[in-house]
Amino acid sequence: MGGAVSVEEATAENREKLVGDLKGKATDILTRFPDNRCCKYLIPYLDSEEGKALSNEDLLTFYQCVRTGIDNEDSGLGCYAMTPDDYTKFGGFFNAVIRDYHGDATGTAKHETDWDASGVGEGGVLDVRKLGFDQELSMRVRVGRNLKAFNLPGKMDQAERIKFEQQMLGAFQALVDNPDYGGNIYSMTPNFGEGVENPNKISDEKYQELVDAHVLFKDMDADPFLKSAGISSDWPYGRGCWQSADGQCIIWFGEEDQLRIMCMKKGFLLNEVFDRLNTMLKTVESIEGIDFATSDDYGYVTSCPSNLGTGMRASVHVKIPNLTSDGTDAKAKEVCNPLGLSVRGTGGEHTPIGADGTVDISPRARLFIKEKDIIEKLYKGIELLMAQENKPAEAPPAEAPPAEVVATEEAPKEEAPPAAE
Ligand code: ADP
Ligand code: ARG
Repeated sequence: MGGAVSVEEATAENREKLVGDLKGKATDILTRFPDNRCCKYLIPYLDSEEGKALSNEDLLTFYQCVRTGIDNEDSGLGCYAMTPDDYTKFGGFFNAVIRDYHGDATGTAKHETDWDASGVGEGGVLDVRKLGFDQELSMRVRVGRNLKAFNLPGKMDQAERIKFEQQMLGAFQALVDNPDYGGNIYSMTPNFGEGVENPNKISDEKYQELVDAHVLFKDMDADPFLKSAGISSDWPYGRGCWQSADGQCIIWFGEEDQLRIMCMKKGFLLNEVFDRLNTMLKTVESIEGIDFATSDDYGYVTSCPSNLGTGMRASVHVKIPNLTSDGTDAKAKEVCNPLGLSVRGTGGEHTPIGADGTVDISPRARLFIKEKDIIEKLYKGIELLMAQENKPAEAPPAEAPPAEVVATEEAPKEEAPPAAE
């Protein structure tokens, strides 16, 4: 087939060409990247009754949703929703991607939300000192959230991004005025329209300082997955965060989801960040104008199907010098994969591990799992990972090792995890 399909080409007149090009490209990509779910499910979808019945306008939106998976051949999911409705409008496609990625063999699981962690650990306490840590760990729990009243970030134009930021300013002010939070708003938006100043604008130096402190997100425009989906468009309009006075509560606006709401601190008790986030979310949801998009089947709606459900990523930074002694995360990933844990670098997704062997560990599951189970999974995952890290160096193989010793060498396995991040 010819060059890449462009949005400009996708008019009513050349619908056939767009469909043909998409199917051709997907078929070709699958020969090199068989795990690209966008390509795998796009072909049968476009041939299905639902796919064939899409209006030209909807077909264009569908193309926007899947373009990232065509442009980025190594995508694991390769798609983002442009509006919360896309998960139903293109249900035949998204449902297949979602149930495959999240490992729902029944095809009928429904997401349930449950933040009650009083029964996890010892009376709701998950103390990493019990796992042998004598230095505080950097702990963070975030959720992705989107407001019903706005398009998801891939479909927002500059004006909508500014409008969203301006609407959120009321909510942030309510938090600043609340003695439990206080804090500041940091915005990267150059202006609120021609000649309209942004009162919260920060300098480039301040932005970098906040990125280095893990408070603000890095340049989205440099992320090819987000760029193809339009999620990083109009950068840096409509981008920034609110941070509480004690620094621990943060709300990003304008990243991959309209909002990423998080708690982060150094400590020993994992439940502290989890419980505080739960409390903060209740405060945020009680603010007028905050109405999060949800789905009956998939819980909280997020741009990327990988984050649906809880939208939660609960992480710690841990030092594992033995498992990273070759300077890469390869061995750590090999150990973490069967434990259902993701390994990221110290600057987040797609960044390198720390020079001292520090990595970011988080349970991979987000959908069809309860919030309380994610935080418990993180605790148990750290325990199992550290057992591997601290395992005595293997003795040189004896001539004929006893069978039972070989059997116990294996890391305990959990359910098969999804293959992509
Ligand atoms: P997300 O967690 O929202 O999917 P990233 O993985 O890109 O996004 O991480 C965003 C930022 O949060 C990065 O600066 C990353 O280092 C920081 N971060 C994540 N987990 C922790 C943690 N446990 N402690 C400190 N910083 C963290
Ligand atoms: N779109 C990329 C892919 O499909 C990343 C997906 C997971 N990460 C994310 N930030 N949503 O491989």
